[in-house]
Amino acid sequence: MQVTTLLSLAAVVTTAIAGVVDTHPWKAPTKNDRRGPCPMLNSLANHGFIARSGKDISIDQLVNAIEEAINISPNSTRPVVEFGATTSTTGNPNTFHLSDLNKHGVIEHDGSLSRNDLYFGDNHSFNSRIYDTVAKFFTKSTISIETAARARKARLAAAAAANPQFQYGEQEETVSLFETALYLATFGTGTQGNAPTKYVNILFREERLPYKEGYCKPTRVISNDDIVELADKVRAAA
Ligand code: HEM
Repeated sequence: MQVTTLLSLAAVVTTAIAGVVDTHPWKAPTKNDRRGPCPMLNSLANHGFIARSGKDISIDQLVNAIEEAINISPNSTRPVVEFGATTSTTGNPNTFHLSDLNKHGVIEHDGSLSRNDLYFGDNHSFNSRIYDTVAKFFTKSTISIETAARARKARLAAAAAANPQFQYGEQEETVSLFETALYLATFGTGTQGNAPTKYVNILFREERLPYKEGYCKPTRVISNDDIVELADKVRAAA
C-alpha cells in the first residue's frame, strides 16, 4: 500500500473515532442514574448509546445499541437481553433498569471478575480490590485466551475459598465463560483473543469505551458463532 493511501486511511479512521466521541461523549453517571453489574451495559449508558439514566431500557433499544456501538450481531445478543429482561421491575416486561440485573441467580452470579459476591453485600459495584487480583494476570499489552482463562480460574478459586455460601453450578459456569468470551470478542482479533489490555482495563475500571486510546468499532460483525467459539476456547484453556 502506498504511503498516501495509508495516510488517507488513517485520516478516515481518525475522523470516524472523533465522530463517535462527539456524538456519544462519555459522562459519569449522576447519583440518580441506575447502573448494574455489567461493565459493557454501564459503558453504553455512560456514552448515551442507551438512556444515560439506565432506566426503562427496552429490549429492542439495547439490542440495537450493542450493534451500533460494538457490532455484535442482534441474533447473538437478543436472547441474552431477553433473559436479562426477566429481572424487570419496571412494570413492563419489555423494559428494565440496568440495576434490575443485580438480581442474583438470573445472570448475576458469584465469582465475578470485578464485583464481589452477594454474600458480602454489594454484588454490582465495580470493586477495584477484586479486579486487581484479576488484572495482575494481564502482564502483556494484549490478553490471550490462555491468560484470560487463567485469570478467570484464579478469581473463581479465590471467590469459592472466601464465600462460605459460594453458589456456582452449570448455569453460572456458562454465563461466566461467555463474559470472558465477550470481552475478548469485543476487543480482540476475531476468535483469536488478544484483546488490548489497556482497552479491557478501561472497560472494567472506567466503564467507558476506549475511543481515546484507539478503539474503533470493528467493521466485521461479531457473530454468535464467534462468541461460542471463544467461550469454548476459554473453557479448554482453563
Ligand atoms: C454486548 C456485549 C457485552 C459485553 C462485552 C459484556 C461484558 C460483560 C463482562 C466482561 C462481564 C463480567 C463482569 C465481572 O465478572 O465482573 C459482564 C457481566 C454481566 N453482564 Fe454483560 N456484557 C455484554 C452484554 C450483556 C447483556 C446483553 C446483558 C443482559 C442484558 C448483560 C448482563 C450482564 C450481567 C447481569 C453481568 C453480571 C454477571 C456477574 O455476576 O458477574 N451483559 N458482562
